[in-house]
Amino acid sequence: SISMTEHAVLRGLLGALPLIAPSMLKCDFANLQREVALLESAGARLLHLDVMDGHFVPNLFYGPLVISSLRAITSLPFEAHLMISEPGRYLDNYLDAGCNLVTFHIEAVPEPTPLLRRIRQAGAAAGLALNPGTPVDAGRPFVAECDLVLGMSGERGFVGQKFMPVALEKLRQLAPLVGKDRLLSIDGGIGLQTIPQAARAGARQFVVGSAIFDTPDYREAMDNLLLAASGAAVSANSE
Ligand code: DX5
Ligand code: ZN
Repeated sequence: SISMTEHAVLRGLLGALPLIAPSMLKCDFANLQREVALLESAGARLLHLDVMDGHFVPNLFYGPLVISSLRAITSLPFEAHLMISEPGRYLDNYLDAGCNLVTFHIEAVPEPTPLLRRIRQAGAAAGLALNPGTPVDAGRPFVAECDLVLGMSGERGFVGQKFMPVALEKLRQLAPLVGKDRLLSIDGGIGLQTIPQAARAGARQFVVGSAIFDTPDYREAMDNLLLAASGAAVSANSE
């Protein structure tokens, strides 16, 4: 059964663009509750949770138990970014843990339609991610089945990466396909220097790790990123 609350989550996010999605990969894991509280008061509207299996990507990162512990302390929507080889096998665990959006990689699931539908039927929003080297054509046929399309602008599985400009051309191609009823998201190396270009290329959700967590004041970092993103989007519209 489709839960109306989850659709409300997606509508709420679409109504609050541009979005900065803090990637919890870089937070202080000894103080998760404090980090979440800081992000809430910094104005975060969702949390981006990177899941890595040591197989699809070389690193290993948190599982559903950590996410359900977080679920107990915040009502912010969670986006699970599953960088894992068999997302279908673990999907229910992440849904049960309280993820509202679930994004997986087309490189892991070349025929993603059934899994995208499964996520939506469970009442969550479905996202499809493309690695920097994956052509837009690989994702194009499936955009209609998605609520979110994520263009990676850093090599998957690492934080603190250099922004890869190849992602900009991909965003430009994806933007008209994604339209206004879906989120076009970018992830990897996003900061004050790179967010304007990504916004002009059409991204509306910006996943940010280092450019928030490496600063002393999350609110200031989020405000400045938002300002840079909306300023760039406005000037692009009036061009
Ligand atoms: C990388 C993750 C990102 C990452 C972003 O594989 O998907 O979410 O944490 O970190 P920064 O913003 O530092 O590149
Ligand atoms: Zn991510």
